Amino acid sequence: MKILAIETSCDETACAVVQDGREVLSSAIFSQAQEHKLYGGVVPEIASRRHAEQIVQTTGLALEQAGLGLPDMDAIAVTYAPGLIGALLVGVNFAKGLSLALGKPLIPVHHIRGHIAACYIAHAELAPPFLCLVASGGHSHIVEVLDYTAFRVIGKTRDDAAGEAFDKAARVLGLPYPGGVEIDKLAATATPGKYSLPNPKVENRPLDMSFSGLKTAVVNLAHNAAQKGEPLDKAALAADFSDRVADMLSSRLFAAARKFAYKSIACCGGVSANSQLRSRLERDAKSAGARLYLPPLHLCVDNAAMIGAQAFYEYRVGNIGDSALNAYASMDIAQPTH
Ligand code: KG4
Ligand code: ZN
Repeated sequence: MKILAIETSCDETACAVVQDGREVLSSAIFSQAQEHKLYGGVVPEIASRRHAEQIVQTTGLALEQAGLGLPDMDAIAVTYAPGLIGALLVGVNFAKGLSLALGKPLIPVHHIRGHIAACYIAHAELAPPFLCLVASGGHSHIVEVLDYTAFRVIGKTRDDAAGEAFDKAARVLGLPYPGGVEIDKLAATATPGKYSLPNPKVENRPLDMSFSGLKTAVVNLAHNAAQKGEPLDKAALAADFSDRVADMLSSRLFAAARKFAYKSIACCGGVSANSQLRSRLERDAKSAGARLYLPPLHLCVDNAAMIGAQAFYEYRVGNIGDSALNAYASMDIAQPTH
């Protein structure tokens, strides 16, 4: 089954052709990051406008790369939640138009379910049940993937998402948007241990996470250094910050793995591209005797291939949309509405 998948939940206009949930025939991405960089973050209205301008061309590119045409598609999939509402609506309405014109099924896909499905593309042998850490710009969840379309969230952040914390800390350090990857590069030039940052715990919720205290500690260190006229070792601070975030994510993930007896562990979402997190997860998986599944870097960040992968499994259980499909800014991964 060949699925044409559309993703416009944030600042990437993406389209892909995916066969039977696992084989990516093409994946085209138009990134708006350079433009949003001018404003230090994503400007929602600009994101929607660029999606409207780029979506036809990006879809054409994905079809061309796959060597296929629209009539070869068996279904149209689209991210319909969660994300920036104006951005999502561009993709949803475009996908609806294609589905109506071609007379092919429309498959609504939850963005975070898509991030999890990125692991299926990279690891042919991976199948539920497994435990997955989703760490992106908007989410930090520990999810039991009970089946391809059945999920249970067993841990989450009480405040900022991990990616949000990276982006805010980057801004304080004077690094450009998108900050996560910039902190990653800077941290690679130093060794952690110079700055003592907090290790927040959520009372009575050992699997939950908190990042706002860490972010505030970086803000305070930067302000104190500025006030005293002292130099700030930005690389060392980036290394310590990344080390704390990796510790928060990995320690909770493997605590959950112990508690619920999982030996198959995955991690996905933009933050799973972080090099310190990846090596920490590998180390923790080894000592837990668990198998770790990480997507390659290009599948960690937003793309449409992951949406096409998840769509195959949604279609199999009859999760099909119709011409009344709407977009939603927020939605629980376990209980989608459409
Ligand atoms: O999954 P994603 O592309 O979009 C959302 O669904 O939110 O995640 C974007 C987030 C951003 O906050 C970005 O700074 C972060 O992932 N990110 C990273 C790295 N690459 C992307 N954070 C830390 N290290 C990285 N290498
Ligand atoms: Zn995402």
